[in-house]
Amino acid sequence: MPITIIIGAQWGDEGKGRVVDWLAASADIVARYAGGDNAGHTVALDGEVYKLHLVPSGILHSDVVSVMGNGMVINPVNLVREIKALRNLGLSITPERLVISARAHIITPGHIALDKAKEMSLGDAKIGTTLRGIGPAYLDKTGRAGIRTGDMLLDVEEFADRLVTGIEATNTELGRQGIGTLDAREAAGEYLEAAAFLKPFIKDVSIFLDQALKAGKNVVCEGAQGTMLDVDHGSYPFVTSSSPTAGGALTGLGVGPLFVEKVLGVAKAFSTRVGGGPMPTELDGELAQRLRGSGANFWDEFGTTTGRPRRCGWLDVAMLRYAASVNGLSEIMLTKLDILSGFDELKLATAYEIDGVRHEYPPVTNEELERAKPVYESLPGWREEISGCRHFSDLPKAAQAYVSRVSELCDVPINSVSVGPERDQLVLRGA
Ligand code: IMP
Repeated sequence: MPITIIIGAQWGDEGKGRVVDWLAASADIVARYAGGDNAGHTVALDGEVYKLHLVPSGILHSDVVSVMGNGMVINPVNLVREIKALRNLGLSITPERLVISARAHIITPGHIALDKAKEMSLGDAKIGTTLRGIGPAYLDKTGRAGIRTGDMLLDVEEFADRLVTGIEATNTELGRQGIGTLDAREAAGEYLEAAAFLKPFIKDVSIFLDQALKAGKNVVCEGAQGTMLDVDHGSYPFVTSSSPTAGGALTGLGVGPLFVEKVLGVAKAFSTRVGGGPMPTELDGELAQRLRGSGANFWDEFGTTTGRPRRCGWLDVAMLRYAASVNGLSEIMLTKLDILSGFDELKLATAYEIDGVRHEYPPVTNEELERAKPVYESLPGWREEISGCRHFSDLPKAAQAYVSRVSELCDVPINSVSVGPERDQLVLRGA
């Protein structure tokens, strides 16, 4: 299996980290290809909970090389903090174990200030970003004004000049909006220290991966965010600024499509979303509360990066069908099925009705998606606690029927289901 791409099939937070961690056991390389520290990938292992924002989830396997691709936007200061925190937990992170693309873009303090300023100026229409500077960093990248990780390999003064020039450009924009500006030299200070730390990790990732693939190595591409947050294919403009979909893995790492063997979509057994924008199956009241959890457990529906409560609703299969199409999914893994134990009735949105017309896929515009009424199909729930199940046949019949119906409705096999946060809490079909 040369390349397996793992993508989020919904609005992010599907549990991709734990799936990547599971597949990393039989991989040589785990490579992240999009986004930045807006992501929060949680992996539970032997009683320890690892919250990863930038470092790929493969880092938890000592014989796996983790790669951060050119499609990412990286805050070097936060990356150094994350590496040091992981080292404090006993993980070995060396340039042999972590490779950072020289072509990724750097998030500066100016980008963070601009992200906040833009959100404030939008008022009620705000996107609800993670305020990590993601959008402004990608804007500079496509506007050909960005600073790249490879620039950290330059002479210190040269890198400092680029940073200061970048932050001063932000200051012009902040000034125009009447917002306080940054002291560019001071803001650049921490970045110079981070650059010295990260230098040995920076390489040409595309060549590294090509050589590894030609030598027969197995690569797992770790998606961040989700299909509906994709800048092209998501619910624009309520999206992130990168390409979390399967195509993004190729451009975000610089690898060719012929190496790809499998595209695995990760979907939660119900829907969640953080931030603004339409969500046709959103619930409120007691049902939403039950899906969300109280916040007492790390797997409850509160943002790993921002702590914000996530919006919760029934599983939107029309959206999953769309994700299957956009990403060319070979398979879906359904996560958090255990959370659905105890409901009398479960609902699946199999399509939408918009102005009296049935739609099998999400419409293109948000205006239509706002008006979309889910067409629900009801399924019986189950009472049993299922977190101890390991084989499909161990699941209650109603849980088996739920999984099978989702698979049938989006015409994609579901061969694995997670029933708890730990590495081994997986139900494998056919196992
Ligand atoms: P940004 O990526 O911080 O610009 O945020 C844009 C939108 O994507 C907002 O609605 C965020 O809540 C959402 N978002 C970004 N990263 C994640 C994630 O990892 N999980 C879920 N939502 C995310």
